[in-house]
Amino acid sequence: MIRKSGGAGRSMVGGEFSRHFASGDGSDPLRDAFARRSAVMPFRGRQRLPPGEFQATWQQILSVPSPPRKRLAYIHVPFCANHCLFCGFYRNAYVPDAGADYAGLVVEEIRREAASPAIRNSPVHAVYLGGGTPTALGATELSRIIATVRAELPLAADCEITVEGRIIHFDPEKIDACLEAGANRFSIGVQSFDTAVRRRQGRRASREEAIRFLEDLRDRDRAALVIDLIYGLPGQTPEVWRQDLETAAALAPDGIDLYGLNLIPGTPLSTAIAAGKFPAAPGLAELGGFYDAGAKFFRRRNWRQISNNHWGRTTRERNLYNLLIKEGADCIAFGSGAGGSIGEISYALASDLVQYRQDLAAGRKPLGMVTTSDALQPLRNFVTASFEVGRLDMAALAALAGDEVAASFAPLLSQWQETGLLSFVGDTVELTVAGRFWYANLISAFHDILEHRLQSAIDAA
Ligand SMILES: C[S@@+](CC[C@H](N)C(=O)[O-])C[C@H]1O[C@@H](n2cnc3c(N)ncnc32)[C@H](O)[C@@H]1O
Ligand code: SF4
Repeated sequence: MIRKSGGAGRSMVGGEFSRHFASGDGSDPLRDAFARRSAVMPFRGRQRLPPGEFQATWQQILSVPSPPRKRLAYIHVPFCANHCLFCGFYRNAYVPDAGADYAGLVVEEIRREAASPAIRNSPVHAVYLGGGTPTALGATELSRIIATVRAELPLAADCEITVEGRIIHFDPEKIDACLEAGANRFSIGVQSFDTAVRRRQGRRASREEAIRFLEDLRDRDRAALVIDLIYGLPGQTPEVWRQDLETAAALAPDGIDLYGLNLIPGTPLSTAIAAGKFPAAPGLAELGGFYDAGAKFFRRRNWRQISNNHWGRTTRERNLYNLLIKEGADCIAFGSGAGGSIGEISYALASDLVQYRQDLAAGRKPLGMVTTSDALQPLRNFVTASFEVGRLDMAALAALAGDEVAASFAPLLSQWQETGLLSFVGDTVELTVAGRFWYANLISAFHDILEHRLQSAIDAA
């Protein structure tokens, strides 16, 4: 089995593996373990189907009863009040008529498929209304969509039903509509409580308005409340970040997410920085410092670290959707721009609203892309889900991948241990705070190596 192997690791592996080695001497891995932060690529090892095969493939999928595994439903709402500068999710400006019309289309899409063997056969454990901004929709539309989900999909009795939203336009009538319809979790994007930092990014509510809104939502005490914060926004100094953490925790939500700013090419923020209108975004060393401050903050307060970016304060917070999606659970998806997966098939629904509407009107599933995964996908999912929660059981990996494959990771794990990214507890790898900050790099390295192994096996056959 895998054991820590001291300093011998480097010489045992070729350049192919050593390119995943962390740099630095381990004195401050948060700052310098890697030159860039990797993203976990969702389409690794996937083959695109030709568009001509989409509809027949979809009908075939719907006809097969789903296996008895925990699964998910996702409903996408592709509207926002405005384009926040940092964000890569923006698609369509919200106008009330479009919202009402859109809710009707989503309801129709759900109803059409609800009786199929693939949908009705086993329970759905978590539903996520995400965006965009679901809370941009009107109270009637929110209520209609949630009620349809509950009436048509086979939800587990303890199903987590999350509505993602933001403060602006999420008025008491909409909150009540969501709660009455059955939502039991709100994930609210706050990003920062600092009024100047917020407004510069297009977040209209002031610090005081944000606090009042969150207090009201919390005091209803009828659903879990989760707050999203971003670190590394322009003007968000370490002191502002400390205050953001303090303010968020003092509101006593059920959970808090911390996201490092991802400067996405093509976003208004990235364009503004390139044009010199904003100072450069913080480097990786600074982002590592922000993450470290957040992790320490929650440890001192005894919050549970549920995943690398998510902390829970109460037992009400489960974070079920996000944990199961990382495990590769089947996810049935509805709405323009939604993405889902059933068995080996993953799919994305047309993000163009005109196309989405036309396909539905013509009786077609509005598929924009369909892919099939390769034989490594269960292993990739296992690695992703394990690193996501900061713990990788090497005995379980060996049971899935074989002893030889699992053992081949020993030199890499040993090097990461030397550079302060992880430690061993028996056969289980446990990420340090630095390892958790760089977790996407660790996942990408494992995925690369697994693919290399698969290719070698194919070549040798
Ligand atoms: C899909 S977005 C929807 C957020 C919601 N519409 C809002 O306005 O708050 C979910 C979360 O992703 C995070 N996020 C969005 N863009 C990001 C970026 N460029 N870097 C880091 N986190 C980002 C934010 O914390 C956001 O709350
Ligand atoms: S942060 Fe939310 S509201 Fe702002 S553009 Fe992104 S998805 Fe839309």
